[in-house]
Amino acid sequence: MISATPKAPGREAPSARTTETPAQGGLKDVVALSSDICHINGQEGELVYRGYDIQDLGANAAFEEVAFLLWNGALPTQGELDEVLYHLQNERDLPGPLVEWLKSVPPGSDAMAVLRTAISMLALYDPEAELMTPEANYRKSIRLTAQTPGIIAALDRLRKGKPYVPPVHEGSLSANFLYMLNGEWPGAAAERTLSTALVLHAEHGLNASTFAGRVSASTLSDIYSAVTGAIGALKGPLHGGANIAVMKMLLDIDGRGESPSDYIREMLRRHERIAGFGHRVYKVLDPRAAILRDMAGALSEESGSTKWYDMSLEIASTMLEAKGLYPNVDFYSASVYYTMGIDCDLYTPIFAMSRMTGWTAHFMEQWKNNRLIRPTSEYTGPRGLKVAPIGNRA
Ligand code: COA
Repeated sequence: MISATPKAPGREAPSARTTETPAQGGLKDVVALSSDICHINGQEGELVYRGYDIQDLGANAAFEEVAFLLWNGALPTQGELDEVLYHLQNERDLPGPLVEWLKSVPPGSDAMAVLRTAISMLALYDPEAELMTPEANYRKSIRLTAQTPGIIAALDRLRKGKPYVPPVHEGSLSANFLYMLNGEWPGAAAERTLSTALVLHAEHGLNASTFAGRVSASTLSDIYSAVTGAIGALKGPLHGGANIAVMKMLLDIDGRGESPSDYIREMLRRHERIAGFGHRVYKVLDPRAAILRDMAGALSEESGSTKWYDMSLEIASTMLEAKGLYPNVDFYSASVYYTMGIDCDLYTPIFAMSRMTGWTAHFMEQWKNNRLIRPTSEYTGPRGLKVAPIGNRA
């Protein structure tokens, strides 16, 4: 069961509590397992991957270094980085039938639904899909991380009637993604911005999608099944889907020509949730939001228009004043991607492309010391009913 107190990995709390402990709404503050991967201090606004502060990683590490860190527990040496980069570059090709399927996706399909289906399809073309050795799972983690950007880029181009751009087997994951998306190699600034955004989204403890995937992994199901479940959980507007909702809100405010502050206050008056604000764990500013806010500011200066940035700052101060809530990671990432010219509905898939590293690190950790994750529920329904003949039922 899920216990409210920390315990050794894979060990359950005493069974006497299973039906007596009242249910904790949304599993808030429940410690479900132990993990070496990520530490979050929600009171102080700290986020640490494998011992490294997110500010340090965001400023000084490329996404591929962070991927290696999450998977292996230490930053790579130059030789180790060269090796993981080689594999991440050479596993980028998508299976031909998958590209053909992407061409047949019904117009208007939800981008996360397409990604979820495509990732599940990848398993059918991976001869190692059902092989559960640690080495095979590591290779599959690299393969999934290498192929996801191509799926997102292909989906976007093909739905716009543009030809598929196959990957190149060189350069960073960020540069290759932008190349496959736009058909031209990106400038250094765009590559760096995306790489930093991916570092910030790569891992976040036992968030809803990671937990969903870890539950699948704990049944000893395969990595593709676990990732597919995680993508389904990320898709929701209370989780990764919030970044799309943020940009739609900014565009709506702009379209109506309203004051951002009035717009937000009116939403709050109607008891609506404001996407990109609040967090289950952070009670102060999400450290990722602080970094993304600065990136959004710098990008908007470069682009010659600070419209989205100014609007975002006004919304943030209105929310703090009206609700005491701070922005989360999804608030400023929306305008960062928009300023980079990326379509709104790709923001959550891009989140998935980064979080693939954190998810797969968690699944490999789960399998190292596995125990089926199977909590219990507090029964609140009726008891003692008797089956009446069907004609006598009200
Ligand atoms: N807008 C308006 N009010 C919000 C809010 C938001 N974004 N987030 C939380 N609140 C309010 C709730 O209405 C509630 O107020 P109440 O106690 O007066 O009823 C209070 O804050 C606590 O909210 P709760 O839903 O219990 O918190 P939670 O920990 O279960 O939910 C989130 C956390 C992230 C789901 C929630 O903050 C949210 O819905 N945010 C918007 C979606 C989002 O940005 N998600 C991405 C997260 S990274």
